[in-house]
Amino acid sequence: MKIIQTKDYAELSRRAAELIAAQVREKPDCVLGLATGSSPVGTYEELRRLCREEGLDFSRVRSVNLDEYVGLGGTDDQSYRYFMDSNLFDHVNIDKANTHVPNGRNPDAEAECAAYDAMIEALGGIDLQLLGLGPNGHIGFNEPDEVFTLPTHRVALTESTIRANKRFFEREEDVPRFAYTMGIGAIMRARRVVMVVNGPKKAEAVRRAFFGPVTPQVPASILQLHPDFTLVADAAALGL
Ligand code: F6R
Repeated sequence: MKIIQTKDYAELSRRAAELIAAQVREKPDCVLGLATGSSPVGTYEELRRLCREEGLDFSRVRSVNLDEYVGLGGTDDQSYRYFMDSNLFDHVNIDKANTHVPNGRNPDAEAECAAYDAMIEALGGIDLQLLGLGPNGHIGFNEPDEVFTLPTHRVALTESTIRANKRFFEREEDVPRFAYTMGIGAIMRARRVVMVVNGPKKAEAVRRAFFGPVTPQVPASILQLHPDFTLVADAAALGL
């Protein structure tokens, strides 16, 4: 595990974007695993700038996102497809046909999850997976559990995640209760993993995930065993 400590969020976003840009330059048709949430917003902003001002070329890049809320479609402004379009895809020269997010509108969880894993496999797996960290140690929507779940699966969000995500919705009742999430298998098979974490509210999760035992009760802790994992975190997130 490699740790890049930054002084603030702006530097964190630049450093993470540099790692992703280097991957795109090295392998123009790479498969990027992408995350939503507030942590990578600055990273996507910097990638947009690199595309606009420095000609970073996304034309052959393929992408797979970690997760999507069950029940939401791509035009719903709370969906993760909508987030990706508005934060990145609509602003860079990526071919939308090459961008993949689980289909939250597919009520057949088994079929949706199996098709998502088959699609990742057909792309040749993930070259670089970008992650955020949940306050309870989740990655994607792999919540604390008795076991690490390997394939893409449908998950019931925990109360803690529903509370953490309600800031994006008008009312807590509006937060979807289920999500489709990539499992620990595809994340751990990614050739490179980069996580962005900022702020004092994540310090305890960082401590438990990376300075404690590997356990499915703290899903991110499995990344301690990944051969190429880089944590990009600001001083506040590393405070403990
Ligand atoms: C998002 C995702 C989640 C978030 C995590 C942190 O696609 O998979 O695991 O990365 O919940 O969210 P923020 O960055 O909003 O604190």
